[in-house]
Amino acid sequence: MTIQREASLQPYNTFGIDARATLLAEFTSVEELRQLLQNPEVQALPKLILGGGSNVLFTQDVEAAVLLNRIKGITLNPEADGKHVLVTSGSGETWHDLVLYSLEQDLGGIENLSLIPGTVGAAPLQNIGAYGVELKDTFVSLEALEMESGNLVTFTHEQCGFGYRESVFKKEAKGKFIVTSVTLRLTKEHTFNTSYGAIQDTLLQQQVQELSLKAISQAVCHIRRSKLPDPAKIGNAGSFFKNPEIPLALFEILKSQYPGIPGYPVSPETVKVPAGWLIEQCGWRGKILGKHGVHKDQALVLVNYGGAAGNDVKALAYEIIQSVEQKFGITLTPEVNII
Ligand code: FAD
Ligand code: EPU
Repeated sequence: MTIQREASLQPYNTFGIDARATLLAEFTSVEELRQLLQNPEVQALPKLILGGGSNVLFTQDVEAAVLLNRIKGITLNPEADGKHVLVTSGSGETWHDLVLYSLEQDLGGIENLSLIPGTVGAAPLQNIGAYGVELKDTFVSLEALEMESGNLVTFTHEQCGFGYRESVFKKEAKGKFIVTSVTLRLTKEHTFNTSYGAIQDTLLQQQVQELSLKAISQAVCHIRRSKLPDPAKIGNAGSFFKNPEIPLALFEILKSQYPGIPGYPVSPETVKVPAGWLIEQCGWRGKILGKHGVHKDQALVLVNYGGAAGNDVKALAYEIIQSVEQKFGITLTPEVNII
């Protein structure tokens, strides 16, 4: 177990921001994590857990012990009904590797979440979602180490308080727990979810004759690669903002002013509006401001073309929030964790 001092975090965040951490160390097991937490140097500092660093924006050096989660291992437990399998994954597994593993085992439920960057342990934090599916749809429970007591605690589905890009770990439990494993219930008998827009078109284009988990996963990967910038080439953290949910009455007023505004009902009183559309309407799509900017194909994605400072990206995010507020009376909320 090596502890580095004044280490660059650039290789550990997909925005590619060059912030420094006071201390940096990896853990590969709960035991190693406990040892690290007992180290006097680590104890003296605040802690920041990082998985893949794909949902963070560093705006300053991190005066903390940054702990990189690398806990691996996947186990399967078939359920007595013969139709489901409980899959327990170490929290440091790469999320997409877990998806690929489940496809190999012909287990369904997370194929629509293919190619989402990051680790399994971070997935419950914001209840990752894509193409009509969210983590909560297969989630059973997780284990987490409580930092204050050092105890391992189990959180059930209900205790996680999942919502759209939300969980208890972004609210009351924020910064108090380190997720060490996650258990999902996957299916042996599949219900394919192709209801989300582009999936069906892509399956048709790819001339898929017989629907399968792998075919859906491949279609999702194809759509994602065509829409989202690859962080290995252009620094980014996916959608920078959440899609706002607004009152139906406001949506109807906006619809009369902007007939093209897209909206998806989430309840009888609320409508979800794509933030990408709102940002594009304010003229931001494709804007380049020196080393950072707004992606040319997806206005919801802020990008670092190389060498940008986190604060520049943050300033741009707040300019975008202001202009959307002025034009539409809607306040965007960042999805990315600004640190
Ligand atoms: P990190 O960025 O390392 O951490 C995120 C937060 O979780 C931090 O606050 C960190 O302290 C905390 N954390 C991390 N691990 C733990 C742990 N084990 N215990 C406690 N706290 C922890 N998200 C979606 O929901 N849907 C998408 O379709 C999607 N597409 C994306 C596309 C791109 C190109 C990119 C770059 C990102 C995308 N994201 C998407 C966002 C991101 O992939 C998810 O939020 C992912 O779950 C982050 O995982 P991570 O391991 O990288 O988390
Ligand atoms: N749009 C525009 N201009 C843009 C971008 C989008 O007009 O520049 C409009 C279009 O009308 C489009 C609609 O927005 O039809 C929705 O766009 P898209 O299908 O690309 O999805 P999104 O709402 O931008 C959300 C998630 C993604 C997830 C996809 C697919 C949020 C904040 N984002 O994006 O998640 O992958 O749907 O389900 O909910 C992430 O969270 O990081 C992320 C990438």
